[in-house]
Amino acid sequence: MQYDVTVIGSGPGGYVAAIRAAQLGMKTAIIEKYNVLGGTCLNVGCIPSKALLDSSEHFYNATHHFAEHGIEIPAPKVNLEQMMARKKGVVEKMNGGINFLMKKNKITVYNGFGSFIDKNNIKIKKADGSEEQISTEKVIIATGSKPTILPFMNYDKKRIITSTEALTLTEIPKHLIVIGAGVIGAELGSVYARLGAKVTFVEFADSMIPTMDKTMGKELQKAVKKLGTDFYFNTKVTKIENLGEEVLVSADGADGKPVEIKGDYCLVCIGRRAYVDGLNLEAVGITTDRGKVVVDEHTLETNVKGIYAIGDVVRGAMLAHKAEEEGVLVAETMSGQKPHINYNLIPGVVYTWPEVASVGQTEEELKAKGISYKSGQFPFKALGRATASGDTDGLVKILAHKDTDEVLGVHIIGARAADMIAEAVMAMEFRASAEDISRTSHAHPTYMEAVKEAALAATDNRPIHT
Ligand code: FAD
Ligand code: NAI
Repeated sequence: MQYDVTVIGSGPGGYVAAIRAAQLGMKTAIIEKYNVLGGTCLNVGCIPSKALLDSSEHFYNATHHFAEHGIEIPAPKVNLEQMMARKKGVVEKMNGGINFLMKKNKITVYNGFGSFIDKNNIKIKKADGSEEQISTEKVIIATGSKPTILPFMNYDKKRIITSTEALTLTEIPKHLIVIGAGVIGAELGSVYARLGAKVTFVEFADSMIPTMDKTMGKELQKAVKKLGTDFYFNTKVTKIENLGEEVLVSADGADGKPVEIKGDYCLVCIGRRAYVDGLNLEAVGITTDRGKVVVDEHTLETNVKGIYAIGDVVRGAMLAHKAEEEGVLVAETMSGQKPHINYNLIPGVVYTWPEVASVGQTEEELKAKGISYKSGQFPFKALGRATASGDTDGLVKILAHKDTDEVLGVHIIGARAADMIAEAVMAMEFRASAEDISRTSHAHPTYMEAVKEAALAATDNRPIHT
């Protein structure tokens, strides 16, 4: 078979690129090594983790908050099997959705492992061992990422696990040790803490979610601590051992003293690595840098003409919506358009409760770059809507340029922050000033009023409700 474009990998980068290419009239094929489409995000990432976050949040509210709302129920119990079955159902429903979209856009799907024979020929190795070969004018590499795990961590998929196994546990851990208090640690640690597990975080840096604005990490830690969790910061793990029913984590502690922690499960979430294994990139001479495929900043074309790469397999944030934007960009670039992505405005969200959401630059980044800025904050506890719902933890922080008032960064921790950040992204896309946001009418009572008030605080310190 001969295609205009072949996409290798069906995650949010790959399947979106395939749809956009097909929309633009290209004869398109997509190759996926698993027998389901959707990649990490749909099958072992964004969607199943959010399903468990939502279920565990319901349970936590039922046990901790219903009574204060005047709702009396007998002590709720977790049916983990049902919770997992529901999560599986959510994923399957969306797998069906992607199959539908492939058919609708007349994209040919190949289930099998794709690798380069040469620049225009791809081999597909199927699960039954048979092989097929297709020809293509252009290729998009969208093979995503896998969890990083170091040899001394003795990953066994049973007690020493990554996020993939943590999404399918058959029992609630008694004591879950989480290595890395980044995004996955915060989210999946929250899931099991809400379901009753003791959770201990061991983190190399000095705070949770250390790459986000420091205020966010500090506030999130307070909220996650309320779930009964423990933290070891500035602590470097040196060994993880499966002792049978128990796991032993050894580390060098903050004060230089050795630390030993025993639990029944250990979740390792210390980042992810680009996945190019078996692609045979050497056959076409594609350049990589520390495992990532090197691409042109604007076109995402590799050093080999006609071969592009997108998503987790290239530089930048490992996020589904970033991969999607890149998929669209590449398809449009191939068809002669000149699209652009503003990477500074890719939002980042942590789906804990309260949620954390950020766009633009952090206070630490502005300081490091010597950019003069002003900051305005507004706490959720001063909001009517948050008081009514009982979700009073959190704040909005707006950073604006000291002279021009242009919004440079917005950082939110609080109920519905994940959705609230869209206003900030849109405002920044249009290069709004804090004054612009502060003079925009926001419905009352809503959580969004905190954004307006933080903008008022950033412009001459004139919030109304604090
Ligand atoms: P992937 O989704 O990794 O897809 C790559 C696909 O390529 C896979 O299906 C793989 O099987 C296939 N493949 C690889 N090699 C080959 C080959 N040689 N032949 C054929 N097929 C191949 N991001 C968010 O934005 N929001 C979230 O809430 C979020 N939650 C997450 C939760 C967890 C637990 C994890 C692990 C990740 C989460 N992410 C989230 C990150 C998100 O999943 C990734 O950024 C996103 O999936 C990257 O998309 P991609 O298309 O680049 O690659
Ligand atoms: P991460 O980069 O968010 O966090 C890893 C953490 O581990 C960091 O805080 C780091 O300091 C720490 N760490 C590294 N090595 C360590 C060591 N040896 N000992 C102790 N701590 C160590 O990576 P994470 O959580 O694994 O997630 C991977 C990727 O998946 C992220 O980059 C993120 O983009 C994506 N993701 C996104 C989500 C979202 O958008 N809501 C949810 C989950 C994952």
